[in-house]
This record gives sequence, structure tokens and C-alpha cells, in this order.
Amino acid sequence: MAEITRRIGLSLGADICWPTCYQEIMKRLDLNIPMNGDRIRFEVARMGIEPFDLREHVPFDVVIDRLTHWYNTRREWIKKATILDDVYVFNNPWSVQSMEKLTTYVAMMRLGFPIPDTWLIPPKEYEHQADLQVTLERYARFFNLGEIGEKLGYPLFMKPYDGGAWKAVTKIDNEEELRKAYDGSGRNIMHLQQGVFPFEKYVRCIGLGPQTRLVSYAPEAPLHDRYQMAKGFLKPEDAALMRDMTLVINAFFGWDFNSCEALLKGGTWYPIDYANPCPDSQVTSLHYHFPWLIKANIRWSVFTAATKKPLGQLTWRRYFKLIEEGMTFREQLDRYLKIAHHRFETERFEAFCDQHLPHLDEVAHEFFATQTARDAVHAKVKALYPEHEVEEFTGLFWERIQSCRDDEPPGTARDVAVA
Ligand SMILES: Nc1ncnc2c1ncn2[C@@H]1O[C@H](COP(=O)(O)OP(=O)(O)OP(=O)(O)O)[C@@H](O)[C@H]1O
Ligand SMILES: [Mg+2]
Repeated sequence: MAEITRRIGLSLGADICWPTCYQEIMKRLDLNIPMNGDRIRFEVARMGIEPFDLREHVPFDVVIDRLTHWYNTRREWIKKATILDDVYVFNNPWSVQSMEKLTTYVAMMRLGFPIPDTWLIPPKEYEHQADLQVTLERYARFFNLGEIGEKLGYPLFMKPYDGGAWKAVTKIDNEEELRKAYDGSGRNIMHLQQGVFPFEKYVRCIGLGPQTRLVSYAPEAPLHDRYQMAKGFLKPEDAALMRDMTLVINAFFGWDFNSCEALLKGGTWYPIDYANPCPDSQVTSLHYHFPWLIKANIRWSVFTAATKKPLGQLTWRRYFKLIEEGMTFREQLDRYLKIAHHRFETERFEAFCDQHLPHLDEVAHEFFATQTARDAVHAKVKALYPEHEVEEFTGLFWERIQSCRDDEPPGTARDVAVA
């Protein structure tokens, strides 16, 4: 019997609260897992930024990454690590690099998801490039923006095809506003998307490996109130639909950690943004839902590290082959779901958690009552809020975490349909 150490790397940027909580709970768990005749222990390290030799082997088995989508040095390091050393990373770096909103919309359209009608329009302005002028003179066709607006109907939403963090998103109610918004859109390549408006419900489904959490979302509320604590407002079949759509898309794109947004109108759930593969993890947004995130993160990283899960290839053709004329979307989804569960090894994961992490709930429950946990919340609030609001908001987020502890005692299901 050998003692093996699996190393989990945290690839961090501005993150403050979640890595502290993750590391503290890992320390308290002090895992020592029997597997294939060996005993597996775990080390967690925060990764530094430094020059690297492309041939040098990396000292990690799993990387939880928060940087790839904007910090290319880390992205390239991760690509090298997955090829050279079979490192498992949340999320597939090639997928994060190239799958924008547009790709997810089109993939979902092909798979039968009810995506609102969406157009892409060439940018209003360009960065100068040698061949730009001649290319536009030869090939840029005049188009009638008003006609596109009319086809889509109002209100519509103009938003970058690769957007995130609500940058340059505009609700547009008529042609005049459309022209004005386009004139002001600069070099952004914009989607115009049919508005699902007014919507009856807005849900974000956070997926982490095969685990999901459904959260009611209020886009118009201030940041600290957007993720709601409401319960019981989704019918079980709607909760299952949201969860299954999320798992399918995450498996399809190789995303372990993604947040999917859908709006309900007239009995249909319309996905409007399923491309958030570095979702909010901060206590200042997630508050009540924060303990779930930490626990889900621990379960999935420990599972992938212990089992040396390989980073799967993307296998789109397998999904497309399942499409059959005449089936309902729910029937189609059930077919895709089988591939998703296979990719996430859902059954094996559940059994692993039951066998090797039965004490996680209890340990986390205790941890989230400690001064260390409160200090982590305080540190994040201090980094984001003006001095005079720090105590008030630390208190608010802490109170919400305590409500979560009361509402979700040890033993609560791993998939939580809070909505
Ligand atoms: N088709 C739509 N119908 C109704 N509302 C929409 C639509 N598209 C976008 N919105 C509104 O605009 C907001 C931002 O849109 P979207 O999520 O696509 O952009 P984002 O930049 O990814 O934002 P975030 O980072 O919050 O996810 C949504 O939260 C929603 O309120
Ligand atoms: Mg979004």
C-alpha cells in the first residue's frame, strides 16, 4: 500500500473569499482516501505566475482555474499541462477560449433548445488593418438595420457576441433606439436578440460537474440582491428541465463550472446566456448560495483528483446523431443527458461522495460558523465596498450564510433546487 499525494492547484485572480474557505475546509477534512489498494492524500496550493519551460512537468493533478478567460499566460500554461501531464482543469481551456455566446446559441439551436431569434451584425467601427479598406469596399453589403429590428420585433437586446459581465447590453424598444445603440456600439460585434420580455421568471442554474443549483435571479436588483433566496417557485418538472439543460450544455462544451440563464415566458423556458464558464464565485454576489459552491467545488475537485479523471474531448457529433424528427424537446434532452451523465460519471461521483466525503457537510457546517469564515467574508467585502459600508455588508452576507446553515443542514441533497 502506497501513500499518494494528489495536488490541486488554485489558479486565482481577484478571488479572496472562496479560496480561503475551500482551503480551510480541505484542511479540516484531512482526507486520506483508500483507492485501488493505496491511500490518497491531498495538497492544495495557490499557483504563482512565473516563466515556465514547456518541457517541464507540472506538479498538479487538478487545477481550478479562474484566470484563463482573460490571462493568456495562465491559459497557455494550462493547455500545456493538460497535454503534457494529463492535468484535469475546470474548465477545458480550448473551450473557454473559443466558445462564445454565439457558438452556444447555435449549438443549442441545433439541439432543439428554444433560443430566441438572434442575429449577428458587423461592427460599426474597425481597428485599422492593412487590408481592411479594400475588404470592406469589395464585400461589405449595405444592410437595413430597421428591417432586422422589425423581423426580430421589439423589445430586443443588443449585446456583444462574446459578452460577459453585462458589458454593452442594451434593451431596445424601437428603431430609433436601435440605430442609436448601433451607432454607439463602436468595435463590438453585436448580437441582436429577440427580447423575452416581460418574463415571468428568471433562473440561473449553476453547474459544477454533475452538481447543480437553481437560483432565482433578479437582474434589476443591486448586485448583492440579484441572486435571490426565494424557495419553491419552480415546479419540479421545470427544475428538472433547467438542471438537465445545464448539464447537457456543460458536457457538450467541456465546462465543469458554468452558470446558465433562462427566462420563462408563456410556459417556455428560453435560454438567453449559457456561456458563463467562469461564473461568479464571490460571497458578495452568492451570499446564501456560497456554502453550496464551496462544497460542490471540494467534491468535484477531490473526485477528479482522486480518480485521475481524464479531460474529455468534445464529441458534438454524438449529440447530433441523437436528433430525430418528431420528438419533443424533453425527449431529445433525455437522450443527450445520457452522454452528459456519462461524461460527468454521475453515478460513480455520487457513490464516491457517499463513501469518501460523508463528513464534508458536517465539517462545512461547522466551518461556516467560525471566525475564520467570517474574516473571509469581511476581507472580500473590504476589497469591494466603501469603508463606511464594510461592517453593514459583512453582517448582511454573514447573516445569509447563517440562514443557509439553518435551511440546509448536513445531509441536504447535493443538487439543490432553491428556486
Ligand atoms: N433575450 C433577452 N430577453 C430578455 N432579457 C435579456 C435578453 N438578453 C439579455 N437580457 C437581459 O440583459 C442581461 C444581460 O444579458 P446577458 O446575460 O446575455 O449578458 P452578460 O454580459 O453575459 O451578463 P452577465 O455577465 O450578467 O451574464 C440579462 O441579465 C437580462 O436581464
Ligand atoms: Mg449573462
